[in-house]
Amino acid sequence: MLARDIFDLSGEVALVTGASSGIGARTAMVLAANGAKVALAARRTDKIEMLADEIQNIGGVALPIRIDVTDFESYDRVLNEIESNLGAVSILVNNAGIAKGSNTLDAKLNDWDMVIRTNMTSVMFLTKSVAASMIKHGINGRVINMASMLAYRSPRNATAYGASKAAVVQLTKMMSVDLADHGIRVNGVAPGYIETDLNRKYLSSDNGKKTVSNIPVKRVGTPSDLDGVMLLLASNLASAFMTGTVISVDGGHSCHFI
Ligand code: NAI
Repeated sequence: MLARDIFDLSGEVALVTGASSGIGARTAMVLAANGAKVALAARRTDKIEMLADEIQNIGGVALPIRIDVTDFESYDRVLNEIESNLGAVSILVNNAGIAKGSNTLDAKLNDWDMVIRTNMTSVMFLTKSVAASMIKHGINGRVINMASMLAYRSPRNATAYGASKAAVVQLTKMMSVDLADHGIRVNGVAPGYIETDLNRKYLSSDNGKKTVSNIPVKRVGTPSDLDGVMLLLASNLASAFMTGTVISVDGGHSCHFI
């Protein structure tokens, strides 16, 4: 088997949430560059329209589509629009996420609720909607959930985020069992610190610099550090026997003291 064949995504239709920046934008570009038609789903339409142009410039196919992943009622409309324009979704990347700091003593219910709805509840219910469509169309689909190293590690001031990402890890395992009968595989990625809009301010602070100095490989990650794992989990040829797995990509950070 040649590498270019095993990772060829021609004929696939990918839906990437949170595609307007960071890891989502990079993942959408990589999937498109390897042949998938990509639905770029996010709230900032100017950003996803620009990304769609970039993808078209490299000969790819992309559809910018506005979604707020906490608007659970909108999922069927979004999926119908993708199906009419690109075909039924065969790869779902549940990437949209937010990080609001919260310490146990000053947690706010509104912030907690927003993090849980965005990072966790959307993963459950968007997967439910997409899986129903995959089953209807007889597609052996793949779901990739964006977890985090903070599903396993416990820095201060991140209760909602850490709890939501720990839930994503367990949801990945449970959904993989429920959906295996239908030939749908569900896996996840648990990145360490990847420099994006989510954490740029923190990483340039004194505390952030200290955190980076504790990463065994002595650098922060970039969205491109996830290219290989996203292609692996998106491809039915490359990861056919993998489901319910969450792969850490963190420069060794989770093996080390934070
Ligand atoms: P980012 O802030 O650049 O990307 C997050 C994306 O999600 C943005 O495009 C944002 O607009 C979108 N989003 C947020 N709420 C949304 C909503 N309600 N509806 C639709 N889109 C929404 O940050 P990054 O780093 O690219 O994050 C992507 C994922 O990776 C997140 O799930 C994050 O938790 C996860 N992650 C990031 C790490 C990092 O160090 N950057 C480490 C571990 C996980």
